[in-house]
Amino acid sequence: MVRSTQISQTSTESISANERLVNKSSKVIKNIFRDNINSNYTEIIQELDKNFDYASNSNCYWSEPEQSLLYGTPLYQAASSSQKLALNHLYWAMQYSKVPLDEAGTMMFNQVTASVFSTLGGFETLCQELDLETTQESYHIHAFQRISRLTKKALLGKRLTQLSKKTNNDWSKKILKVWQQINLSTINPRTANLFSSLPYLLLRYTNKIMLESKGNQPSKYLQELEKKNEFLNVPTDGVVSQLPFRRLTMQLLTLNCGTSPFLACHYYALRLIANMMLKNWEYNYVLYFRKLKNNNTEFLPAPTAVSYFHFLDESFHTTISKTIAQELYKFFPKPTAYERFVANMSIYLMQLNLKSVSSVIPYRFIKDDFSLMFLFYQLLQTSLFDMSATEALYWLEKCFCQEHEGFNITLNSHQHLLTNLCQLFGCIEYLWPVNYEMRLMNSVNNTNKVIQSNIQTFKLFAKFVAHQ
Ligand SMILES: [Fe+2]
Ligand SMILES: [Fe+2]
Repeated sequence: MVRSTQISQTSTESISANERLVNKSSKVIKNIFRDNINSNYTEIIQELDKNFDYASNSNCYWSEPEQSLLYGTPLYQAASSSQKLALNHLYWAMQYSKVPLDEAGTMMFNQVTASVFSTLGGFETLCQELDLETTQESYHIHAFQRISRLTKKALLGKRLTQLSKKTNNDWSKKILKVWQQINLSTINPRTANLFSSLPYLLLRYTNKIMLESKGNQPSKYLQELEKKNEFLNVPTDGVVSQLPFRRLTMQLLTLNCGTSPFLACHYYALRLIANMMLKNWEYNYVLYFRKLKNNNTEFLPAPTAVSYFHFLDESFHTTISKTIAQELYKFFPKPTAYERFVANMSIYLMQLNLKSVSSVIPYRFIKDDFSLMFLFYQLLQTSLFDMSATEALYWLEKCFCQEHEGFNITLNSHQHLLTNLCQLFGCIEYLWPVNYEMRLMNSVNNTNKVIQSNIQTFKLFAKFVAHQ
């Protein structure tokens, strides 16, 4: 075992010692980097993105019907074939509107942690791979945002604009305003005053005492972020959106992962959860793409192809996450009690994102029933369904508060993800049982629990709507 203070020297001896120590992992990393740099999946995604227009892709399904909004609900059964087709396209648009939030976070953490590895020396290929991944994510984000935006605009554009005018003074705006006043995450970092800088100073002090005093140095990238006063702009959306005090939590994690080599490696256990969450539903697009190809189908929808090539690009990223999370950390000094605590707490908190299943979006686990109810309440009043407010409420209750096939699909996929994560985390020595067995995630085990919670939320939602 080599202390981080020793391996921070950039002498030839220490570099070759590091190379020897990481031999097994570095073989995998070198192979992945070689395959990734020789692949053209990102370029294909760029082309598909550039040439996409909704009209040319509007007449066919982009996946099996089960990957459609509201699939399995009584409303889906009653929907016309054109409504079902639109729900299939909107599912793609909604799922891929969320992915950029996570990938933007990945871009920042890739750079923060690569800078730690680069300071240590001996991890050149890994740093090159992480740089390549960061560039790839920027093209992925562009494609997802553009295709999702054009799809939503084509299917909902006009009526949604009317709706947003109509809801200018509604309760959701009022709640948002209050939330903005009390939520630290909305404070503009450039105008941050003493109130917002105190928690940051406390985090900075914690990093100093717990990590820097043990011989670790904040990475160059982290120092640059701090110099530019951009450190406060940590990502707080996507898979981390459910974290308590999410801005402070993410700031602490950024500081810690950008200072301790062990925690820099641990970040990839968190990234692995995000990789697996994505893979859990994106793989169905891969199967559908292959099915169309095998059937010699003349037309391959562009969004299906984007999913397929994104999955291939992401396979490289997933293997890197797995290699660092399961192997690379072993070559650094054993974690201190503080590092072990931060690592375990971060996995524990990530499990909060996996503690529920959605009733109306198959394969989605993040608990956001209240905002989803509002979104679908609006959707049912667009030209797609053309319902009145009363009709929309009636159908919402049927979809959210009664058992239907959609629940089973999502619960099965939740179970599938749980099994995969337990297998992946079982060999990570420093994790607490609650984390390697994903006990918090495992607490979602029956439809009834979800329905009971939805009934309570729906009662609240119906009251709010009635008072508008
Ligand atoms: Fe990506
Ligand atoms: Fe990725």
